[in-house]
Amino acid sequence: MKKCQKTVLITGASSGMGRSTVIALAKQGFVVYAGSRTPDKLFDIQTEFIRPIKLDITDPQNIEESIGFIDEIDILINNAGYGLVSTVEDVTEKEMFDQFNVNVFGILRVCKAVIPKMRKQESGVIINISSFLGKIGLPLFTFYNASKYAVEGITDSLRYELKDFNIRVHSIMPGFFDTNFARDNLVTNSKTFEGDSAYAEMVSTLAPTIVAQINEGNSTEEVSEMILEIIENVNFPARKTAGDKAKKFIPMKKELSDEDFERRVRAYYDL
Ligand SMILES: NC(=O)c1ccc[n+]([C@@H]2O[C@H](COP(=O)([O-])OP(=O)(O)OC[C@H]3O[C@@H](n4cnc5c(N)ncnc54)[C@H](OP(=O)(O)O)[C@@H]3O)[C@@H](O)[C@H]2O)c1
Repeated sequence: MKKCQKTVLITGASSGMGRSTVIALAKQGFVVYAGSRTPDKLFDIQTEFIRPIKLDITDPQNIEESIGFIDEIDILINNAGYGLVSTVEDVTEKEMFDQFNVNVFGILRVCKAVIPKMRKQESGVIINISSFLGKIGLPLFTFYNASKYAVEGITDSLRYELKDFNIRVHSIMPGFFDTNFARDNLVTNSKTFEGDSAYAEMVSTLAPTIVAQINEGNSTEEVSEMILEIIENVNFPARKTAGDKAKKFIPMKKELSDEDFERRVRAYYDL
């Protein structure tokens, strides 16, 4: 039997963690508005419970138009995001802005549109899909790191801001997960990846290792199950790690000094 009729809005729903969460929540009886730039990619799983909507989180007007008609949103899952791989000296203004426009401002825009609905309902749950790279830096991932550190900050601030309205805010910090993140959606700076770049050696060792670790990463169901747990458990912690790499590195980061942790990461990735 279906458990509930709560309404969920999720961004970046067409692939990876987003798509698997849409399916998992619909199975439990949630009505899921599956937001995507390409909602047709969700037509194959469209049902009474899975409602694909066109959603571009970089466009405030589109956000208003796309979700304005949904009277109540009980759960918001800010999932859309991608990674930029670039050194700081090579990055373009556009690459830098786009990374924050999607991963940071996108979340804030959707929150801005959804929070008034949750406040009126006097309840809600917001789940931000961050990353273990929201607590740990890596070379070539400075912009992605900075964007996910920002997501962690957004989560912390919103928890205070929304508590009195009975709106819970959480973040999930995944390690590496087997999705389209590295297969289709990574953005790479062309200069950084040139053979004669001053960073060529680092690029040639680190980038393929990270891509391989993502593509051989954990299965997205772990994240979907954690999302269900957050929804059901009012006492769920503010943030939690998911996947092997996050479970290995985040506790280590807490236990060691910054310098000792850095030494471990250097040794692990041969940096
Ligand atoms: N895979 C990992 O190892 C990993 C690890 C830690 C954190 N994460 C985070 O997990 C979340 C989900 O990623 P995923 O691994 O499931 O990757 P994915 O399969 O690439 O899915 C990400 C979704 O985000 C949206 N997206 C991607 N690039 C975008 C862009 N340039 N502009 C706007 N939207 C864009 C897309 O949604 P639509 O096309 O449907 O709009 C896409 O379906 C992201 O926030 C990512 O940062 C992933």
